[in-house]
Amino acid sequence: MTVLVTGGAGYIGSHTCVELLNDGHEIVVIDNFSNSHPESLKRVKEITGKTFHTYPIDLLDKEGLERIFLEYEITSVVHFAGLKAVGESVSEPLWYYRNNVIGTIILCEVMKRNNVKNLVFSSSATVYGEPDAVPIPEGSLLKTTNPYGRTKHMIEEILRDLHVADPDWSIALLRYFNPIGAHESGKIGEAPQGTPNNLLPYISQVAVGQLDELKVFGNDYETQDGTGVRDYIHVVDLSIGHVKALVKVKNEKGVHTYNLGTGRGYSVLEMVKAFEKASGQQISYTILGRRPGDIPVCFADTRKAFEELGWRAERGINEMCADAWRWQWRNPEGYPSIETDKQTSLEKESTKFFVPPKQEKVLNE
Ligand code: NAD
Ligand code: UD1
Repeated sequence: MTVLVTGGAGYIGSHTCVELLNDGHEIVVIDNFSNSHPESLKRVKEITGKTFHTYPIDLLDKEGLERIFLEYEITSVVHFAGLKAVGESVSEPLWYYRNNVIGTIILCEVMKRNNVKNLVFSSSATVYGEPDAVPIPEGSLLKTTNPYGRTKHMIEEILRDLHVADPDWSIALLRYFNPIGAHESGKIGEAPQGTPNNLLPYISQVAVGQLDELKVFGNDYETQDGTGVRDYIHVVDLSIGHVKALVKVKNEKGVHTYNLGTGRGYSVLEMVKAFEKASGQQISYTILGRRPGDIPVCFADTRKAFEELGWRAERGINEMCADAWRWQWRNPEGYPSIETDKQTSLEKESTKFFVPPKQEKVLNE
């Protein structure tokens, strides 16, 4: 009875591994470490005092995935693995479609062959594009504006078709709003490679002195102070939402779509103030023009997740910023550099590289 976590070394995946383990689940992780570091999983073990195995497998490696399903009695999959940078998806659309869409198809093929039909999928509020009204309910029109968003929309459609073809599939489509913050231990958090694209990691790096100043993208929106408004959600609340969604898919077959947000929006300048308060650091900023593709305001209608999952976000903006700050100052460079010690960490920390003998029966089907 094991939950497979794809992309479990990443930002949201590592926090969800903690919550799954704390909830008594056995897990196995696969990740190709294209945007993460195995150190995060070592720290998940430290936080929880529990152990599990990790395999450096790519979603596109069908045989590798098959071997995991042969080795473990997998009952459900929580699927985080994917590329997520909007700008990069515009310049490298084929890479994004291949990795995210084809990767998910391969995962589902392997699940189907092994009769595993419970899936929790990381979708995004980006599928709503610029909403007609806020708060945004799940039934809103989907109108994505970039290749990354379209991969999420396409995967949602593919998973719906899968359930139409075989009603035994049970799938949760979780549309995240803006995950921020970190585990309260300060051991795991968001560790973007290069200059961050998203607001909170950028502010944190200004606070810790790694970046000079925040560039605020536009102060002429029709919002309280002219800056963009988003629904920031603590990554631990988001992770707990996955544990609840897993219960739902196990108990009720179907395709269940949920917004995971707080239902409340904050402007860029409100976030700057909240972070200054949490960190005691001054955040310098300058106002620039709008970022192309940005929407003015976005926040979730959270009623469905509360009514059907019994879940709602508990942590407020001060806790989000305090936890993000604790992670940032304790780990100003993020996790140790991938190039120098990825291999060592993997080997040292009982991360298991295993290649079980090929089971011809399954692999040759
Ligand atoms: P992340 O980059 O930290 O984690 C994704 C993980 O997947 C990484 O560890 C990466 O190495 C791995 N990965 C990518 N492609 C892979 C492949 N082909 N095979 C195996 N592993 C692969 O990102 P995150 O913020 O933790 O996001 C997790 C999921 O949630 C993603 O699917 C993302 O699109 C989605 N999402 C994230 C946000 C956000 O703001 N962080 C918002 C909405 C949706
Ligand atoms: C971005 C992605 C979206 C993704 C989401 C969560 C784009 C166009 N959209 O959305 O697909 O689902 O992240 O990962 O990239 N801001 C600044 N200065 C900065 C960074 C951001 O002022 O350096 C502002 C933005 O204009 C916005 C707010 O801060 O108003 C939040 O930005 P960001 O964290 O990038 O999230 P989204 O724009 O919601």
